[in-house]
Amino acid sequence: MSRARRLSLAAVPAVLSALAFVWLHDRPRAVTFADVAPILARRCLGCHADQGVAARPSLRSYADVARFRAMIRSAVWTRRMPPWLADNSGVCGRWQDALWLPSDEVQTIVAWIDGGAQWADPRTAAIRTEPAPTLAHVDATLDTKAAFKPGLVDRAYRCFLVDPRLASDHLLTAVLVTSSDPRMVAQLNIFSLDSEAAEVAAARLDRAAGDAGYPCYASPLASPNRLVASWTWDSPLLRFPRRTGVRLARDRKLVVQIHYNVITSGLSASTQTRVDLEFDDLAPLDRWIETLDAFLLNYCFLGIRIVDAHNAVFFGARNT
Ligand code: HEC
Repeated sequence: MSRARRLSLAAVPAVLSALAFVWLHDRPRAVTFADVAPILARRCLGCHADQGVAARPSLRSYADVARFRAMIRSAVWTRRMPPWLADNSGVCGRWQDALWLPSDEVQTIVAWIDGGAQWADPRTAAIRTEPAPTLAHVDATLDTKAAFKPGLVDRAYRCFLVDPRLASDHLLTAVLVTSSDPRMVAQLNIFSLDSEAAEVAAARLDRAAGDAGYPCYASPLASPNRLVASWTWDSPLLRFPRRTGVRLARDRKLVVQIHYNVITSGLSASTQTRVDLEFDDLAPLDRWIETLDAFLLNYCFLGIRIVDAHNAVFFGARNT
């Protein structure tokens, strides 16, 4: 055997161990359920929970998620889930609080499922849910006062005349919506009534309706009015873009308009809704807004997303 050949044979174990080293250390770490669970908790469980708008499929435990893995893979890969029809890829800017999954999270979920949906650690078998969002401070509360039993057609939209009892003008920066049955409350708009005549008109409709609130579709049926907040059910909390406030006038009443959805609750259930308001009058605000309509158009603020097959709902999110 030549010397050169002896040398190269002697090098074989060293080369093999170097290869093994590279293989072990450069191989991507296997994705485990511990990587996937926090994504599901943050991005999915707001809706896919017992009291959520999509109790089925349940995504609350390893067993649930493993069982529905093929559906989940297809839903996140095609961006059907989370439901978000606006584009957050950057084409029209980026959106505050977008329900859009960042690409690395899509990859993590898909890699986990393609890798066999491995169980990693029994401690993550149940997904720990995120704490519910809250306001920094509650400065006023709008209460619809009575439970309402929603239905179809003219019982699907209801307006409630409410008095926030404001002694001075305020800038609204966030709203928190709480309902006794949150699954039924799909969308909520707040309108400011800007004259006594508008308040009288709304009060007349309210009295005539007999039941809690009065039927209304698209507008509060009393003008002049301004749209001051538009919320949908993907999160209890709607926070306006940073340094943005919508003016609420002192001594003026508001109308809370609710669009109900009875798909999960059925026609015999009722629900009562409360809206907590947060004001920020002191922070330096870049934008004082009178009405959301103009703002939506001016700032590419408006998107449409569909949270179920029957509802196209408008939402506000900041295009940053
Ligand atoms: C804003 C509420 C909401 C969020 C957040 C959400 N879902 Fe859904 N999901 C729904 C609703 C409502 C349905 C019922 C089907 C429909 O009408 O679109 C559904 C249906 C599904 C289905 C079955 C039907 C289908 O389209 O495949 C899967 C799987 C699913 N969601 C997975 C997820 C995953 C995974 C996440 C998080 C990454 C998620 N969802 C986040 C509301 C939501």
